[in-house]
Amino acid sequence: MTQTLTQIYDARVASGDLRPDPAQRSALPLLEALRQQLQAPQRKSGLRGLFAKAPPPPKGLYLWGGVGRGKSMLMDLFVAATDIPEKRRVHFHAFMQDIHAGMHAARARNVQDALAPVADAIIAETRLLAFDEMQITDITDAMIVGRLFQRLFDAGVVVVTTSNRPPKDLYLNGLNRVLFVPFIDLIAERMTVHELATDTDYRQHRLSGAQVYFHPADAVARAAVQAIWDDLTGGDPGLPLTLTLKGRKITLPHAHNGIARASFWDLCSQPLGPADYLAIARAVKVLILEDIPRLSMGNYNEAKRFVTLIDTLYEAKTRLIITAADRPEQIYTEGTGAFEFDRTVSRLQEMQSADWAAE
Ligand SMILES: Nc1ncnc2c1ncn2[C@@H]1O[C@H](COP(=O)(O)OP(=O)(O)OP(=O)(O)O)[C@@H](O)[C@H]1O
Ligand SMILES: [Mg+2]
Repeated sequence: MTQTLTQIYDARVASGDLRPDPAQRSALPLLEALRQQLQAPQRKSGLRGLFAKAPPPPKGLYLWGGVGRGKSMLMDLFVAATDIPEKRRVHFHAFMQDIHAGMHAARARNVQDALAPVADAIIAETRLLAFDEMQITDITDAMIVGRLFQRLFDAGVVVVTTSNRPPKDLYLNGLNRVLFVPFIDLIAERMTVHELATDTDYRQHRLSGAQVYFHPADAVARAAVQAIWDDLTGGDPGLPLTLTLKGRKITLPHAHNGIARASFWDLCSQPLGPADYLAIARAVKVLILEDIPRLSMGNYNEAKRFVTLIDTLYEAKTRLIITAADRPEQIYTEGTGAFEFDRTVSRLQEMQSADWAAE
């Protein structure tokens, strides 16, 4: 007899892996019902199948709530336990980028409706689509998602998604928002909207009191950072996350569940600016930034970008975990702008405190 999601959850609580949370536990039956429907034997084609009306596909689930509440954890639990081959779990950002790339290719072939072949390719191999971290910030995504989801729903694809906002607040104050409103109605019609209303930010909880600044950036520091990564991702190695911004591409080499890992050189040696760093801050909640060197006078550009990066992460309240050659005040002591670097030092210190970024 296979275990229900509630039984799996309870077992993880019993093993000490999770802390018992009533709000999380009460969301599980919604996912369990969906799992049962997806795992039920599919209608055979044939005469009977031809005349009987297919049952409507089950409603999807839109799970929303504050950061670190356990939405992604519940979604992963559900996806892992749902025993069907046609399932796919994707990060919303990465998924939309694939969609754009596919549409670009279709346009190059002079396809009239460029979204149709892209959606159909997904439909052909997917019955369960799990989107993590749905957020709509730019107009191109806003204009596509409505038609895309309509097509997926019509084909019977079950969509499960996590978000920090209720549907009515998606793309709030966005350009041409009226054109987006039908999508919000579509979500209400085809998905069960459920708030994960727990007070605990478990990510904060796991990081609070933990050391988050390691120097020197040696094997010990690397191992410590790896342990934090494993704790927050459940050991998933992550995938590269590419953000596209006005044609520029910024790649975070490893990302999973709101956490990304990149080196100082990945982010501060290329000509990136405030908009790029803001895109990173929006895409991740925890950034592990590795191998910050001691910067000399000749590293003026790198130092300047690093200041901008830290300012942006600070404003966005992104949690930051660092390995560096030295303490913050020793990173950049002599070049142009070393005086202004003091603010960065102060922020780096503040960002290490146990309750920094707590709501
Ligand atoms: N009940 C729990 N006990 C202990 N740790 C938990 C619990 N629930 C979640 N966590 C852990 O807390 C971290 C944050 O959880 P998760 O990533 O699922 O949050 P989220 O709601 O998806 O947050 P966000 O909105 O920022 O994406 C993860 O490392 C997760 O494993
Ligand atoms: Mg999440």
